[in-house]
Amino acid sequence: MILNENSDKKIIPIAGGKGGVGKSVLSTNLSLLLAVNGKKTIVVDLDLGGSNLHTMLGIKNTNKGIGNFISDKSIAMEDLVIPTDYENLFLIPGDVLVYGLGEISFEEKKRIIKGLVELDADYIILDLGAGSSLNVIDFFLISNSGIVVTTPHMTSIMNAFGFLKNVAFRFLQRAFAENRVFTEYFDKAFLERHPGEQKPLKEMLEDLRSREPEAVEKAELFLEILQPKIIMNMAEDSGELSIAESLKDLTKRSLSIHSECLGMLFMDKQVSDALKERTPFIIQYPESVTAEGMDRMVRKIILSKRFPEMPLELDYYKDSFELAQIEAEIDEQAMVRQTNGGYSPEEIENLLKLVEQQQMRIKELETALGRSALGGSRGGILDQISGMSF
Ligand SMILES: Nc1ncnc2c1ncn2[C@@H]1O[C@H](COP(=O)(O)OP(=O)(O)OP(=O)(O)O)[C@@H](O)[C@H]1O
Ligand SMILES: [Mg+2]
Repeated sequence: MILNENSDKKIIPIAGGKGGVGKSVLSTNLSLLLAVNGKKTIVVDLDLGGSNLHTMLGIKNTNKGIGNFISDKSIAMEDLVIPTDYENLFLIPGDVLVYGLGEISFEEKKRIIKGLVELDADYIILDLGAGSSLNVIDFFLISNSGIVVTTPHMTSIMNAFGFLKNVAFRFLQRAFAENRVFTEYFDKAFLERHPGEQKPLKEMLEDLRSREPEAVEKAELFLEILQPKIIMNMAEDSGELSIAESLKDLTKRSLSIHSECLGMLFMDKQVSDALKERTPFIIQYPESVTAEGMDRMVRKIILSKRFPEMPLELDYYKDSFELAQIEAEIDEQAMVRQTNGGYSPEEIENLLKLVEQQQMRIKELETALGRSALGGSRGGILDQISGMSF
């Protein structure tokens, strides 16, 4: 595992548990924004079986990718890196050219991870597949600070939590593979399915403390290393950020994992419009509120010299969630303005009042005109004009 804070090269996997929450859209656009800011960035399509990053970058699927790397041992990871239309941004395609790859072995996975860690770049962004399979979890654990994307929907939140739970257990399972007491205990706990009924990880470690005091202390330190970042995507209103905060609380309480919030993005039809055009969203709609929101996330990443540490000004807000809440409220107003052609709700209300007043004035004029020209017997002013001969 790469500890991002100790490395000049930051590896940031993007996962989510649930499908269709925006992992690939975010991988593409955050990578592109890092590149725009002068950072050499490689975005890697690790969604084996569902590769589509090349499409999002408007690239034809004729290049070798991870699929070829797996099936041909003579290929090196750096041979797969292709340039994109954008300066500083490079892509490693997925497995579109290799049919029916299926589950990959642990050895193959280790070879991929080694290849990725040795790549030369400032940032390496990994677009992971949906679900919580061991493949996804092990790729997420390449670094200690991946991004978890969720929407405000309950299923998405529960999947994000389930994903983080698997991450924590897998991390401990791998770190303590040689410790029989640990593996037996955790293998059993790992199979428990209902999060509400499961003992907090902290209590499980307490169960083990008397038998394995040193290992437990080490496990506690290990859990501190994990610092996932949450992105709330496709929100309908700023209040929904509290759902991300609940995810943080649950993750802390049950798994002893401390997560931070990178920000929130609203449901924005322009995102799917850009996808249809096969143009990255931030290129198609650079002035939009959503593009600004993505840029803010990237600035948080770049400004954090020791990412995952967050560049926070805690005199102004309590934590990264409160900052995201403030940003979301500002964005919410701006979104309304964006969809209303540049007007705020107050401005729209004033405009409506003005229109109403003018309509009343027209009515008064009509009545006055009608009375004087036709003795008030005809209807509207248009009727009068159409009946006139010039
Ligand atoms: N903020 C947003 N507003 C509106 N639509 C969005 C937003 N973010 C993503 N989408 C849309 O959601 C769909 C799924 O996005 P994307 O493919 O990035 O998800 P994913 O998590 O990578 O899915 P998969 O698990 O299938 O790989 C796309 O059609 C995309 O346009
Ligand atoms: Mg995807």
